[in-house]
Amino acid sequence: MSAIVPRSDFSLLSANPALVYLDSAATAQKPRAVLDAMNDFYETDYANPHRGAYALSARATERYARAREAVARFFGVRDEACVIFTRGTTDSLNVVAAAWGRANIGAGDEVIVTGAEHHANFVPWQQIAIERGAIFTICPLTADGRADVEVLAALVSEKTKVIAFNHVSNVLGAINPVAEIAAIARSVGALSVCDGAQGAPHMAVSFDALDVDIYAASAHKMLGPMGTGVLIGRREILDAMPPYQTGGDMIAFVGDEQTTWNVLPHRLEAGTPNVAGAVGLAAACDYLTAIGMDAVAAHERALVKVAHERVSAIEGVRVHGPSAAERSGVLSFTVADIHPHDLATLLDERSICIRAGHHCAQPLMRRLGVTATARASFYVYNDENDVEQLVEALKSAKRLFAVA
Ligand code: ALA
Repeated sequence: MSAIVPRSDFSLLSANPALVYLDSAATAQKPRAVLDAMNDFYETDYANPHRGAYALSARATERYARAREAVARFFGVRDEACVIFTRGTTDSLNVVAAAWGRANIGAGDEVIVTGAEHHANFVPWQQIAIERGAIFTICPLTADGRADVEVLAALVSEKTKVIAFNHVSNVLGAINPVAEIAAIARSVGALSVCDGAQGAPHMAVSFDALDVDIYAASAHKMLGPMGTGVLIGRREILDAMPPYQTGGDMIAFVGDEQTTWNVLPHRLEAGTPNVAGAVGLAAACDYLTAIGMDAVAAHERALVKVAHERVSAIEGVRVHGPSAAERSGVLSFTVADIHPHDLATLLDERSICIRAGHHCAQPLMRRLGVTATARASFYVYNDENDVEQLVEALKSAKRLFAVA
């Protein structure tokens, strides 16, 4: 099985032909199209948008607006004003927890997260619950690591204000039934908040069809630049959400005593925006769209199926999470008594990049009964040879540690 994009599209990968990059769930490599688009903005249209009364500034404003339209198209959002550019998923989720949470969560209310959340969708909700005197509830998981929707449906009540959950687990690759969870939230008037950091890069996402209230994603995991992300929300929710930050661009009028706010998306984007980041994300969206998100998902499913079979066939290996058919391109595992960090170091000697540790998901590690795992994650530029190299390296690590 070959990669579905040419390795030559990625300068770093073509400059390092021996590199086996299996850490795209942490961050993805960048195609030249993304780097070129960002460079082109700096070289041809660079100025501060919105403020300038001159043509160059107008061009920068235009680039920013076009980027927002492209990103809205990618995420299936009809109203592009509901796409807010942020620093990344963590930023997006913190904005919602702090701004919406402070305005809407009170003493005795309930905030629900799942036991498989990345810290970015766990800690902000835990902290706002503590601050507001609300009850913080962790929804149990099914055996394969998805939110247990039967338990969730029984847990919720009119006290439930938020259900925060991942689209895809960054550790297990387990895919949550987003629309079903959103419907449970809606049945009690709670906000549904979906962490899409591991969803949007790997499968077709239609915000309007998912019917969730909030969806967050990071550019850098979907071939775009670091430091850029999106907060997508339903208009009535974003319109009613108090600004998280105040300052330039987000105001309508600043009086001596009081200030009024600009319209969306500007009221939630204080200060000079990261135009190059937005341009890079838009280029990444266009690059992925040209491949086709169904083709991206099918490729990862096929690779992870082979990886799942080959890795779990090694004696002493425990693969965590769902069957290959039900996961995105992520494989977390432990190998006998070898510490995942030692494993990652040994694999690095063969130029194989995997992540090892708790993956910013300590609550999930506790539920899996481990402190750390090794994780290989696949993307459009990986092929079956990468899987083979991973398998050979794991066998060699076992020999080195002399484990059966
Ligand atoms: N959230 C990223 C990961 O899962 C960093 O690796």
